[in-house]
Amino acid sequence: MLTTADTIRSRRSIRGFLPAEVPAATLSEIFSLAQYAPSNCNTQPWITHVASAASRDRLQQHLSQATLDPARYAPDFPYDGKYDGIYRERQYDAAIRLYGAMGIARDDKAGRARSFQRNFEFFGAPHVAFVFLPEPFGMREAADCGMYTQTLMLAMAAHGIASCPQTSLSFHPQVVREVLDVAPSFRLLFGISFGYEDTTIDANTCRTDRAELACAVHFHR
Ligand SMILES: Cc1cc2nc3c(=O)[nH]c(=O)nc-3n(C[C@H](O)[C@H](O)[C@H](O)COP(=O)(O)O)c2cc1C
Repeated sequence: MLTTADTIRSRRSIRGFLPAEVPAATLSEIFSLAQYAPSNCNTQPWITHVASAASRDRLQQHLSQATLDPARYAPDFPYDGKYDGIYRERQYDAAIRLYGAMGIARDDKAGRARSFQRNFEFFGAPHVAFVFLPEPFGMREAADCGMYTQTLMLAMAAHGIASCPQTSLSFHPQVVREVLDVAPSFRLLFGISFGYEDTTIDANTCRTDRAELACAVHFHR
C-alpha cells in the first residue's frame, strides 16, 4: 500500500489508457472513498455520472462530433483558456512539456488539433466520470466539487488507477445530459477519464513542474 505522500506524488494526468475495465467492486470502493471529501455544511453538492461500455462509446461518438462545430461550444460555466502573467507562463510550460513528450512541434497545428480531439475519445479510457453541480449552487459549492474530485483521483491512484481531469469534457454539457439522461438543472463542471495507464503512450512520459513553496504559501506568526 502506498503512503499518503506517495499517493499524492504518484497521481498525474494520464492521456493513454488500456482497454481493460476497472472491476465493479473497485469502482464502488473508490467512489465510496471520494464521498469522504469535505464540503460547506456537509452539503456534498457533487452529483457524479460514470459512463462505461455502451454509454461511454455513445458519449465518445456524440462529443467527438459536437466538438467539430465551434457553434455548438456552450459550457455551463464560461471558460476561455486565456491566462496572463505567471499563469500564462505556467500554461505554456505545461503545454511545451506535453507536446514535447508527444513529439508534436509548436507550429504543427494539425498535430495539436488531433491531440486535442483525443480529449473527446477519453484518451482511450474505458470509463469517464462527469461531475455535475445542481442548481442553484455557485462558486462555493463548485470548490467542494474540486475537493471531491481530487479525493476521488487520489483514491484511484491508491488503487493503481490512472485518471485525467478534463475541462474540455464540459464544453458540450447538453450532449452529456442527453446521452446520460440528466436534467438541465444539473450543470456540468468537468469530466474525468480513468482506467489503467498504457505505459507505452508517449504523452504519459510528460511530467509537469510546480512553483517553489514560497510562491504559493505564506506562513505567518
Ligand atoms: C479542472 C482541470 C481541468 C483540466 N482539463 C484538462 C483537459 O481538458 N485536457 C487535458 O488534457 N488535461 C486537463 N487537465 C490536466 C492539467 O493539464 C494537469 O492537471 C496539469 O498540467 C498538471 O499536471 P498533472 O495533473 O500531471 O500533475 C485539467 C486539470 C484540471 C485540474
